[in-house]
Amino acid sequence: MEKLFVSSWCDGETVPENYVFPPGLRPGDNLYPKSDIVVPIIDLGKLHGSDRSSIVTQIMEACKEFGVFQVINHGVSRETMDETRRMFSEFFKLPVEDKSKLISWDQDIVFGLFTSNYNYHEEKIHYWRDVFTQKCHPLDECIPYWPQKPDGYREIIKEYSVNMTELGSRILEVISEGLGIEPGYFGKELSQDTKVTVNHYPPCPDPSLTFGTSKHNDSSLLTILMQGHGNVSGLQYCQDGQCTTVDPSPDALVVFLGHIMKIVSNGKLKTAEHQSVTNKNEARESSAFFMSPTKDCVIEPVKALITPENPPLFKSLTFKEFMKAHNANRIIKENPNDVVKTFIIEA
Ligand code: OGA
Ligand code: NI
Repeated sequence: MEKLFVSSWCDGETVPENYVFPPGLRPGDNLYPKSDIVVPIIDLGKLHGSDRSSIVTQIMEACKEFGVFQVINHGVSRETMDETRRMFSEFFKLPVEDKSKLISWDQDIVFGLFTSNYNYHEEKIHYWRDVFTQKCHPLDECIPYWPQKPDGYREIIKEYSVNMTELGSRILEVISEGLGIEPGYFGKELSQDTKVTVNHYPPCPDPSLTFGTSKHNDSSLLTILMQGHGNVSGLQYCQDGQCTTVDPSPDALVVFLGHIMKIVSNGKLKTAEHQSVTNKNEARESSAFFMSPTKDCVIEPVKALITPENPPLFKSLTFKEFMKAHNANRIIKENPNDVVKTFIIEA
């Protein structure tokens, strides 16, 4: 079992065959590409002042054009961010004996530590990452199942979780305002299921051959990604086959729109395709806070956006049904966008 984690077997010299992506589908030598696309950085501190309408416009433009933006002055203190990064980082440094007790691939469990991906046992090629997911809702019911080590983990991650939920809710309010739909529309079942996925990408002897996570769109409504401490790049945003590196900045958080936002907005807003590569010399870490619908929530385009000129582009489905299709697609590992295509109503 201790040989399961990339961080425990990696010898610093070789990339095993079952981590090597086929030529044409691997990162190649251009590991930190820069395209003409610039992921906008939006100052949320100005949401309360006279610049409010300009900030709402910036957010909506980013949602329509990219499905991703970064936020600064977002109200989450640097201290909370740094302490959270430190906790996640120290968690992965715990002795294997401590971590082995927490291994699980069950997607319904509150806390599960695994490697590569949920479909590790079916996939032919693995991702170069150790990872855990941790449910955050309902918070007080989840906390007793969170790790007790490192010291202070539960307290600090509770604070992070509360902060992320508040920030996500504020951003969702702006998006509902920008779309001209009822305030609070996103606030209930559509975003209530919160969880964090923490990625640890150990140093990789040859990052050109393998991915930390290959191209995907999140299954969430909204994701808030915090890149790790230090200066290790690896995240890429991709559009129309072109990828651009989103360099880490210690104060910024990256906001991604997931598949669900595209469906609910009836295609008015984009969902961001993204991937991450590994680094030769240093480990990279990131935490993705996902805001997703509850299992029985019906996912469909907002009725207020449907007119004879704008008929619904997507079928109604429960989130449970959506996830079934999404997971099947992940096992086949085809174009991640196929999962959205399966829900398009054919004319
Ligand atoms: C994710 C993700 C990217 C990164 O966890 O969904 O896209 O930078 N992570 O680690
Ligand atoms: Ni993602």
